[in-house]
Amino acid sequence: MNIVDIILDKRYGRELTYDQIMFFVKGVTDRSIPDYQTSALLMAIVLNGMNEREMTSLTLEMADSGVHDDLSYVGDVTVDKHSTGGVGDKITPLVMPLCRSFGSKIVKLSGRGLGFTGGTVDKFSSIQGFNIDIPKEDFPKLVKECGMVISGQTPELAPADKVLYALRDVTGTVDSIPLIASSIMSKKIAAGADAIVLDVTCGSGAFMKTEDRARELASAMIKIGRLAKRKTTAVITDMDQPLGRTCGNIIEMQEVYETLTGNGAQDVVDVATVIAARMIMMAGKAGDLNEEQLVCECMNRLNNGKALEEYLTLIRSQGGIVDDNGPLYVDEPVELCRIKSKQSGFINGIKADEIGHASVMLGAGRIRKDDVIDMGAGIRFLKKRGDEVKEGEDLCVLYTGKNSKIVKGSEHYRDIVSRILNAYTIGDIKGPQRSSVIDVLTEE
Ligand code: URA
Repeated sequence: MNIVDIILDKRYGRELTYDQIMFFVKGVTDRSIPDYQTSALLMAIVLNGMNEREMTSLTLEMADSGVHDDLSYVGDVTVDKHSTGGVGDKITPLVMPLCRSFGSKIVKLSGRGLGFTGGTVDKFSSIQGFNIDIPKEDFPKLVKECGMVISGQTPELAPADKVLYALRDVTGTVDSIPLIASSIMSKKIAAGADAIVLDVTCGSGAFMKTEDRARELASAMIKIGRLAKRKTTAVITDMDQPLGRTCGNIIEMQEVYETLTGNGAQDVVDVATVIAARMIMMAGKAGDLNEEQLVCECMNRLNNGKALEEYLTLIRSQGGIVDDNGPLYVDEPVELCRIKSKQSGFINGIKADEIGHASVMLGAGRIRKDDVIDMGAGIRFLKKRGDEVKEGEDLCVLYTGKNSKIVKGSEHYRDIVSRILNAYTIGDIKGPQRSSVIDVLTEE
């Protein structure tokens, strides 16, 4: 078999055989196929797509390119959760304790942020003492003691995806449903859970800019899940504005704490409770409650301290420091400035990608893999879509950590401010509203 023939087959729109896909993934993993040929095939896939069978073969081969985690030590049904990415996405630290409060056991591997989307690993790292690099051999002990563990993704999991993702990032081949679906599902399958709940985001701050594309991606991943014998559900959520009241690391974890003490933003509460309810159902922990009742009960548990108690147990179990006011953080966000509206009207949109980029420029995220994050940096939104604003009123507050090098008035600072102002669309009439949970899709 030869890689040039495989590239040509896909270039001319022909279906790739299982053997061709296996040959490709093997060559990517052992690096025997050079990057230029891998990139050529990736581009042919972007342009000519893949059918369900090819997508599933690619996913399973990528999952098999490294180790498969064995979660049998959990001794119960395991349900994993994955978000396709967004700005202000703080759902994982909320659904873990919610699910745990119903008796589910959770093993969660999460990623670091890159580009304008934040990473759950970085958010947890903003808590003093919290260990997010838990060795695999310690998982069973933590699951036994606290019923949950969260850790950074290890390089042995789907190594083919690591190579492909790095190349896609620099060859304009990220935005492709078969490539995104196989990238996500290969890692989820290798991570070993019995069932998977996908948060498929759509809008300006997501890979999928439109609801139709998000539905297409969701249904591709559900089909792969079915063929790989993992029950898969996709929740389509809105990422046309940042989720919740904050984006950053410490300030997002502070918002998580606010949400767990009954003061959550409506969009965060809605997304977290719908996803948690679905995970609880799939784990078989719903008892007599139907899904609607479960969502209500999850809301109750955000308000009555039950989820908070589990959250603090998780934080302590991984070495995080907690006092009477909640977790302690590695820095203290310092207010840099307030951005004021230049006009009166209604907020009809906040471009989440622009906000994400501005937040990276503030120091809250990475452009390159080895960039150091300013944990104190971030943005607090005082106005969101649908709110009325008067000229001169504050739209949002910018924060940096204590040691930030950002100088007020500098060109960099002015770039951040203008980027944020450009992210807001303000009109004379209140535009259409859209709910944060758009749909829940399961296997037909
Ligand atoms: N997240 C992933 O893990 N892979 C993609 O391709 C896109 C989002």
